[in-house]
Amino acid sequence: MKIAIVYSSKTGNTEELVYLIQELFIRKNVVVKLFRIEQFQMNELNNYEAIVIGTYTWGNGNIPHEMMGIFRAFETQDMKNIVTAVVGTGDSGYPNFCGAVDEFKSMLYYHTHLAVTLKIEVSPQKKDLSRCIRFVEIVLERILLYRAI
Ligand SMILES: Cc1cc2nc3c(=O)[nH]c(=O)nc-3n(C[C@H](O)[C@H](O)[C@H](O)COP(=O)(O)O)c2cc1C
Repeated sequence: MKIAIVYSSKTGNTEELVYLIQELFIRKNVVVKLFRIEQFQMNELNNYEAIVIGTYTWGNGNIPHEMMGIFRAFETQDMKNIVTAVVGTGDSGYPNFCGAVDEFKSMLYYHTHLAVTLKIEVSPQKKDLSRCIRFVEIVLERILLYRAI
């Protein structure tokens, strides 16, 4: 399976989350490539069966500016052949908890084969593990389902 996680993290919480997600894919014997957004070549998008977006939320429920390039890349092309998923960290003390996850969700639902989204309060804790495992399972199930169509 060709899966990439593309993420951004300012203070490390989202990075911690995507490392955990990567580890959970590995436990299912699936290797995924992990890219900070700055390292990811946008013309590579079509080379993956699945892309997992990892994002924190900034401003007032906003997508971080460095993630806007990949947001626009999906938004301006029809990529129904790619399975996507979104994970994010945020702080529920803000009115729009993980707003960037919601923004990606609405757009990816329309332009790609969106499988699942996951919002985590600040950084992943033990109590979040089962949700993270389920997230990975759903991505893998959707890739197999999509292949069969
Ligand atoms: C200026 C500022 C604005 C923020 N705005 C939001 C917000 O609107 N919604 C939210 O859920 N979290 C918000 N956060 C919290 C961050 O998204 C949260 O701390 C996140 O875990 C940071 O991820 P990172 O460590 O990967 O950079 C904000 C944080 C800062 C400092």
